Amino acid sequence: MDRYAVAGNPVEHSQSPWIHAAFAEQTGQQLDYGRLLCPLDGFTATLKQFANEGGRGCSVTVPFKFEAFELAARRSERALLAGAANTLRFDDEGWFADNTDGVGLLRDIERNAGRPLAGQRILLIGAGGASAGVLGPLLAARPAELVLANRSVDKAHALVASHAAWAAQYEVNLRAAALDACGRGFDVVVNATAASLAGAGIPVPAEVLAPGALALDMMYGPKAQPFLDWAAAHGAEGRDGLGMLVEQAGEAFQVWRGVRPQTATVLAALRARLG
Ligand code: ATR
Repeated sequence: MDRYAVAGNPVEHSQSPWIHAAFAEQTGQQLDYGRLLCPLDGFTATLKQFANEGGRGCSVTVPFKFEAFELAARRSERALLAGAANTLRFDDEGWFADNTDGVGLLRDIERNAGRPLAGQRILLIGAGGASAGVLGPLLAARPAELVLANRSVDKAHALVASHAAWAAQYEVNLRAAALDACGRGFDVVVNATAASLAGAGIPVPAEVLAPGALALDMMYGPKAQPFLDWAAAHGAEGRDGLGMLVEQAGEAFQVWRGVRPQTATVLAALRARLG
């Protein structure tokens, strides 16, 4: 049976095995999807061994998305733009790297949350791998403005510079900012930082939220709760990262199997499962 896995460190709490098992059952695909805990200095070695043992591809999570991108022989356009990969397919002619995080986030915001992004003002917080993965697809949704705010402003400037041509192509006003000076009244605020992991609280002032704004944290479960509480306390609609997780997985499933699973029922079942 074809084997897949989520590769990262840590991986024990990943919901990806459950999600892909649900997709496989729904589409009648025969596959086995597990977890691959990779030592911090042993990502490549762990993946090569997995491929030798029948692995056909993997999802890549923290902290290996940049390394996965470097490792591949071929890369999709969206992976090239991000400089990071969350999906690897072990093709015979060389490993293929893709990045489905951006399209996953976009589908969750536009379709699941019902918020078309065209003409909107977006604040994206963070300039690590998570932000890099979604910035290009967010720009392609043609918002009026996208501000990229980060604690280390130089990293935000670097990401803005590497996406400047895309921003121009889609006529988006793209700029970098410091966390305490990113502006106010955004329609959509996306938290792509690890601040909640570090227990550091909300990285931006509440003035960034327009009344009724969508405030999405890429985390889910208890880690997302402080951000969701903050959103609710300031008149915004909070949303966790579970929808993005399921949507990026659906896109990865298609990259591997050539079949698109239905995501809505799987997201609803996952929410029920996690309580
Ligand atoms: P990922 O791949 O998940 O994006 P990362 O590359 O380590 O992980 O990036 C983490 C992001 O969270 C960065 O934007 C980081 O800010 P810096 O670039 O300044 O390090 C941000 N971050 C982490 N801890 C934070 C905190 N306590 N407050 C604000 N931002 C934080």
